[in-house]
Amino acid sequence: MDRIIIRGGKRLEGRVPISGAKNAALTLLPCAILTDQPLTLSNLPRLADVDGFGHLMNGLGISTSIAGAKRKGVVGRAMTLKAETIVSTTAPYDMVRKMRASILVLGPLLAREGEATVSLPGGCAIGNRPIDLHLKALEALGADIEMTAGYVRATAPGGRLSGGRIVFPIVSVGATENALMAAALARGESVIENAAREPEIADLCRCLVAMGAEIEGIGTERLIVQGKDSLHGADYRVMPDRIEAGSYACAAGITGGDLLLEGANADDMGAILSGLSEAGLQVTHEAGGIRVKADGPLRPLSLSTAPYPGFPTDMQAQFMAMLALANGTSVLTETIFENRYMHVPELARMGADIQVHGRTAIVKGVEKLTGAPVMATDLRASMSLILAGLAAEGTTEVLRVYHLDRGYERLEEKLSAVGADIERDGEG
Ligand code: UD1
Repeated sequence: MDRIIIRGGKRLEGRVPISGAKNAALTLLPCAILTDQPLTLSNLPRLADVDGFGHLMNGLGISTSIAGAKRKGVVGRAMTLKAETIVSTTAPYDMVRKMRASILVLGPLLAREGEATVSLPGGCAIGNRPIDLHLKALEALGADIEMTAGYVRATAPGGRLSGGRIVFPIVSVGATENALMAAALARGESVIENAAREPEIADLCRCLVAMGAEIEGIGTERLIVQGKDSLHGADYRVMPDRIEAGSYACAAGITGGDLLLEGANADDMGAILSGLSEAGLQVTHEAGGIRVKADGPLRPLSLSTAPYPGFPTDMQAQFMAMLALANGTSVLTETIFENRYMHVPELARMGADIQVHGRTAIVKGVEKLTGAPVMATDLRASMSLILAGLAAEGTTEVLRVYHLDRGYERLEEKLSAVGADIERDGEG
């Protein structure tokens, strides 16, 4: 299995191209199910999860063709998906288990074919993560839901969903996405209350509109969808990855560096950029991107994760690694997922001083971190170990690199280009 080896202590400086957003890509790909015409998505990141989703779509009978994948150094690529006919309406256990986002085919399959069967995702490294809100939303659009042998089977009476009112008791990104895609082809009007406002949801809405959908309230917590009898093909460019950009910003912070995050969109990154400034980094908006520059010692801060526009749970681990070297004590609170501190014992092995009490982590800044072999069990936790390794004295070996490959495009290449001493070893 591959591992990443980092010899720490190098100051990072230069330009890092920001890729298309993984979480936007994973909800834009299933939009192709909603039409028999081609949907072309450009600026798609080259990630294991995107490839995995492509395979899931192939299994449903949707053709995928990729342009630009082979050219070295190209950031992003385009994929054309065409769902002329759907040959299967089942997302099998093996796909859903490996990639939770597979659940996002449920809404569009049900809307297009009047039925869909999707495996229950099961437990996952960062918490329990049920799908009850996805199912309740589809029921509000008229679906009948049955559970059999670890699978959810949803059917639309008479073969078509009807518009309805969906009121989410808590904010869910995935459930809002499934609801939107389903409502786009339902008969009549749907209203989604307490919708997630993550920028990836607005990206999904804009893609659906480009395909002929009618959606009001984009970017707000109340979305109104006028269902259409059919949608058409479109060309759509995936938004930049705000979490990737935030992760590289932390790399600038933790190494005392100066990075221009090329193509990052500051409008989507309010809470992340405020956190960086509060931690003592200089954040400036420049033509072509956001520049993050260290300016004296890192300062401690208090952060609590929350749905957008709050501070994203997907940035908690990376900030924690950075704050492990701050000049004082930080308090981080995780409110979204119950088991999202699995990087803490690994950071502690590198010398970090972190105490977890329930959902709160107290991070006492230390003078230095030291390299060690470490492993993590989820994507963002793995990135926090990479960040710690970039700043640590000595050599850090990060195992289970496949987590990183799910969400960071060309990680070693991007970090080496700005001065990191990092390599991948395939023999580990
Ligand atoms: C998405 C993101 C993930 C991010 C998360 C929160 C993708 C592919 N993944 O995940 O990177 O960390 O948003 O910003 O976009 N919940 C329920 N019932 C449900 C659904 C969710 O109780 O049916 C709970 C979850 O357990 C969690 C909270 O709602 O506590 C938010 O989860 P949700 O926003 O749904 O996360 P995902 O869409 O899975």
